[in-house]
Amino acid sequence: MTELAEKLYNTGDLSDSELKALIETDNSETAELLRRYADETRQKSYGKKVFLRGLIEVSSYCRNDCLYCGIRRSNKEADRYRLSREEIMSCCENGYGLGFRTFVMQGGEDSFFTDDFMCSVISEIKEKYPDCAVTLSLGERSYDSYKRMKEAGADRYLLRHEAASEELYSKLHPAEMSLAHRKECLFQLRELGYQVGAGFMVGAPYQTTDHIIADLRFLQELRPQMIGIGPFVPHHNTPFAEESGGTLALTLRLLGILRLMFPKVLLPATTALGTIAPNGRELGLKTGCNVVMPNLSPVKVRKKYDLYDNKICTGEEAAECRGCLQRRIESAGYEVSAERGDCI
Ligand code: SAM
Ligand code: FES
Repeated sequence: MTELAEKLYNTGDLSDSELKALIETDNSETAELLRRYADETRQKSYGKKVFLRGLIEVSSYCRNDCLYCGIRRSNKEADRYRLSREEIMSCCENGYGLGFRTFVMQGGEDSFFTDDFMCSVISEIKEKYPDCAVTLSLGERSYDSYKRMKEAGADRYLLRHEAASEELYSKLHPAEMSLAHRKECLFQLRELGYQVGAGFMVGAPYQTTDHIIADLRFLQELRPQMIGIGPFVPHHNTPFAEESGGTLALTLRLLGILRLMFPKVLLPATTALGTIAPNGRELGLKTGCNVVMPNLSPVKVRKKYDLYDNKICTGEEAAECRGCLQRRIESAGYEVSAERGDCI
């Protein structure tokens, strides 16, 4: 199996059957080789730099009903909030002082966040902090909405495709949502000039290795600048409450494989990875990841952005999250970059 890791390192691709064998192997020698190759590959492009993204969770209202998600509209127990313009600006001010040069506004699909509102917030951030990138992660919107927000100054958009197989997508989402529309949004975002992020959960209910291979092939077609993957973690108030979550070993293997298939991509060590293992994010960084996303949301709302159970970083102030992640990055042998961190 080590020869497959070597082939992927040398050529950047494998056949479906080879990928299947590499994704499924539990051979520790192969896992270590994959990790080492992934680390070498990221260091060739990005050295030891890790980019920070200040994550502002703007709303826990959502019109969607994704079966895995703790803030889905059917979860009547969810404690809903949305941040005001002043609160968002105050997160940015705080974050800028802490050295963040990217602000990510993420939230459920909340109709309160109209195009006019978003455009004026984006323009204000770009006016006050012209050296910062603005990333949006607000789900599926119209082409016109994406266009207006791009013109207002947004630089990047994160929209995980979630599952590139129709069959799996339909098991994870209600009938009114479609993979075709999700993909259409991603191609529109790319056409509009956003730096685009796609991705999927690892170990989602019903997910097989063939589904994961379909995800990798879709990513090859889209060629996104960012790829977000993290383990599925069950939430107690969803239809998937009793399902098992994604594993650390499989998530790390996939991070390594992604780094070798996409040598220059921006690859975050996610909060979900840190949730399933205390050193999950450090292991991610050692397996090709080069981005972390400390939480900048006001502490009073953090527990309400409750996507899955036991989510970490919900009690700390932004400065504590920043400090904690800096220590983790340095302990793993990497360094925090002060740059905006665009894809090279
Ligand atoms: N509404 C936006 C969207 O649809 O892209 C952004 C917010 S959504 C909560 C962000 C991501 O959280 C989703 O793309 C999904 O992959 C992830 N997520 C949701 N529930 C999760 C769970 N139970 N475990 C792990 N990740 C989850
Ligand atoms: Fe909308 Fe999760 S269902 S953010």
